[in-house]
Amino acid sequence: MSARRIAVIAGDGIGPEVVPAAIGCLDAVAAAHGFSLDWTELPWGSAYYRAHGRMMPLDGLDTLAGHDAVFLGAVGDPGIPDVETLWGLLIPIRRRFDQYVNLRPVRRLPGVRSPLAGTEPIDLVIVRENTEGEYSEVGGRVYRGRPEELAVQEAVFTRHGVTRVAAYAAEVAAGRRGELTSATKSNGIVHTMPFWDEVVRDTVAGAGGVRLRSELIDALAASLVLHPERYDVIVASNLFGDILSDLAGAVTGSIGCAPSANLNPPGRHPSMFEPVHGSAPDIAGQGVANPIGQIWSGALMFDALGEPAAARHLVAAFEAALDGGVRTRDVGGTATTTEMADAVRAHIGALTPSYVPE
Ligand code: NAD
Ligand code: IPM
Ligand code: MN
Repeated sequence: MSARRIAVIAGDGIGPEVVPAAIGCLDAVAAAHGFSLDWTELPWGSAYYRAHGRMMPLDGLDTLAGHDAVFLGAVGDPGIPDVETLWGLLIPIRRRFDQYVNLRPVRRLPGVRSPLAGTEPIDLVIVRENTEGEYSEVGGRVYRGRPEELAVQEAVFTRHGVTRVAAYAAEVAAGRRGELTSATKSNGIVHTMPFWDEVVRDTVAGAGGVRLRSELIDALAASLVLHPERYDVIVASNLFGDILSDLAGAVTGSIGCAPSANLNPPGRHPSMFEPVHGSAPDIAGQGVANPIGQIWSGALMFDALGEPAAARHLVAAFEAALDGGVRTRDVGGTATTTEMADAVRAHIGALTPSYVPE
């Protein structure tokens, strides 16, 4: 039985609740498909920070480099500035391993009611640029001690960076309905965005069969609420993609269900799989967090590890569990995190691997 080496960082808040719940489901699916997961549990995060003054050891990134993938819960603690927790762990991982695509599928799930009135299927993918843009490290500074205090940070868009994420998004669209929407703000105010538009257009022009349209981010946000069924693939800059992904998660029911994959498409470095949501300190420790976003992120990890049948098995199992009426509080149910994961595991056992739908 071949083993995949997975570094697991449960992290903070609800991370240590949803990560073990998901691991039980992932192990069960892997066993059914003839492979195993060799988990390296890394106790990094805010507790580690309190003990050592840093979120992970100095050689933490080298430790991760020796793994096939990273499975992350979330980081963020109300008692520690976010700048420490995020720049001390999450962002360095994305950058060191050049995880320039943040892939965030969004679907209406069976049995999960959307706050929106319609019942049309929602099935779209957000491809978020994940290493540059508004999250740049250039010029980030607050100027104090002067009559007019100010804060400045440059947004940095490189032709290389925009081209590769647009090419990836076009490839995803080509394998789906062929509709690619680029989120922009090119009406003369944000000066980087006409360049984003130009590079996206140049890149997608070469992708046969993909129809590209650009939408201004403000109108796109509204349209995503009113007509989510119209979207297929959305390519967006780091910040726009961040905001759209929580919005899209809420539109389909709860951000507790939303998964993400931080990918290094050539596969030279490990990719990282984590839910879209954060550490949710407001519900941490209550055992009520929805584990579906974490479990679905595990399915994205199976896809990236070259195990698509296992990915489909896992998705079919959590869909069946939700459809069967087991749901956590955020999606209108009463199940605890553990009860939700147990229901998913029961469906994993009930579905025969060779009959998992394509
Ligand atoms: P959040 O996503 O943690 O929570 C937003 C709301 O959604 C909360 O009301 C929370 O209870 C709810 N929610 C989130 N996940 C849920 C789940 N699985 N089940 C049920 N309800 C869920 O966002 P926030 O409160 O703005 O951020 C909290 C902390 O997490 C901050 O420190 C932030 O920086 C950090 N954060 C980390 C990551 C990450 O590590 N990848 C991502 C986002 C936010
Ligand atoms: C996400 C998170 C992070 C981001 C934060 C915590 C830095 O919101 O993964 O969506 O903005 O990338
Ligand atoms: Mn976010």
